[in-house]
Amino acid sequence: MARNTLTVTDNRTGKTAEIEITDGTVRAMDFRQFKTSDDDFGLMTYDPGYTNTASCRSAITFIDGGKGILNYRGYPIEELGEQCTFLEVAYLLLNGELPTTEEYEAFKHKITHHTYLHENIKGSMDTFRHDAHPMGMLMSTVGALSTFYPEAKNIFDKEVRREQIYRLIAKMPTIAAFSYRHAQGLPYVYPDNELSYTGNFLSMIWKMAEPRYTPNKVLERALDILFILHADHEQNCSTSTMRTVGSSHADPYTAVSSAIGALYGPLHGGANEQVLRMLRQIGHKSNVPKFIKEAKAGGVRIMGFGHRVYKSFDPRAKIIKKLANEVFEVTGSNPLLDIALELERIALNDEYFVSRKLYPNVDFYSGLIYDAMGFPSDYFTVLFAIPRTVGWLSQWEEMLGDPKLKISRPRQVYIGKERRHVIPMSDRRK
Ligand code: CMC
Repeated sequence: MARNTLTVTDNRTGKTAEIEITDGTVRAMDFRQFKTSDDDFGLMTYDPGYTNTASCRSAITFIDGGKGILNYRGYPIEELGEQCTFLEVAYLLLNGELPTTEEYEAFKHKITHHTYLHENIKGSMDTFRHDAHPMGMLMSTVGALSTFYPEAKNIFDKEVRREQIYRLIAKMPTIAAFSYRHAQGLPYVYPDNELSYTGNFLSMIWKMAEPRYTPNKVLERALDILFILHADHEQNCSTSTMRTVGSSHADPYTAVSSAIGALYGPLHGGANEQVLRMLRQIGHKSNVPKFIKEAKAGGVRIMGFGHRVYKSFDPRAKIIKKLANEVFEVTGSNPLLDIALELERIALNDEYFVSRKLYPNVDFYSGLIYDAMGFPSDYFTVLFAIPRTVGWLSQWEEMLGDPKLKISRPRQVYIGKERRHVIPMSDRRK
């Protein structure tokens, strides 16, 4: 019978060993036994960007990039987006099962009762420059929360940990909305706990002099679906950052703040902001072929195209494209849509993009929706960070419960100078 092992022969020494295969992986540590001498450190694996290295075992999100499948806790993203609210999905990600009515009501109550910020936090947000990037404000303010909740460092106390999780999910929209109002020079709007998670967020963003803000139902639901689609995406750059920082036993505010920093980058969550910049720069449908030519020559990247994991359509992009039409019926069409559609049409028929399996990703159309809803483009990544907080926290909590948890500490291949001695400055020559 075939054995679930790998036989490896080190041709430098002739040593052969049988290595166990578990769930389609071999343990990197099993290669350490291959040495050329007793004082040799042993063989390491080299994998820049972790393109083929599993850093953990996780039961939260499953992606089949070739088939374009994304499941949270076994449920297809399409069904969750169609039938659930964002808070139901948040409960699912954190707890492994969809909530019953009672569980849902209790969870909703917990989240809506943690939405307010300490007034001093509000004060510290006031100190940012009037034109501060909202991601910088979000990252710093979430980090600052750790000083308000020092008990958060008790990360192995389940009750304390859960309290911080509820606080973070509840306060993210408030901090996010305050950072928007700050940039607009508008007074902060306090949470309205009678509204839904996304309805309350829209109220804190858009409410002006009216006694109570009533969100547009189509836009409120569209945002809820966008939040569901962005809630988790297994071991991406920001989630790996959350796990890496969390592996040192840092408190969750500090770890989430670091994850926000990772999300900020233009190759990750910052891509949706860049998509809008790119479409504006292209300016007109007729300029698309020239832009594609430039991308193929390696001069620019088509932002919102390509994915480390999806080598077929990103299932989230398909849902978002449909959602865009519903939103545009309320807001009026986005003039940049024509350029985006033309870009997609040409790229999907071009050998360069086809052979590299480059398809539109989640960010390609989400920016157009946010733009139509009235959000400025430097705010798009904030709209990604709010729901992703749930994924970060679910992954963090799962990691803390892993008996194999170790502080994250990758190795390197040293390619620098041999050990040498310092010579006095007066004797040094170029
Ligand atoms: N436009 C043009 N060429 C591209 C693009 C693009 N958007 N993406 C990849 N390529 C080319 C790349 O030049 C390379 O070509 P070659 O083999 O000739 O050198 C090939 O495709 C493979 O690219 P890669 O950089 O090795 O692929 P990766 O898996 O390391 O990178 C990526 C994935 C998402 C960073 C990349 O596709 C990219 O930069 N996309 C644009 C930014 C973007 O939309 N990011 C959002 C990702 S989805 C949101 C999220 O989950 O964070």
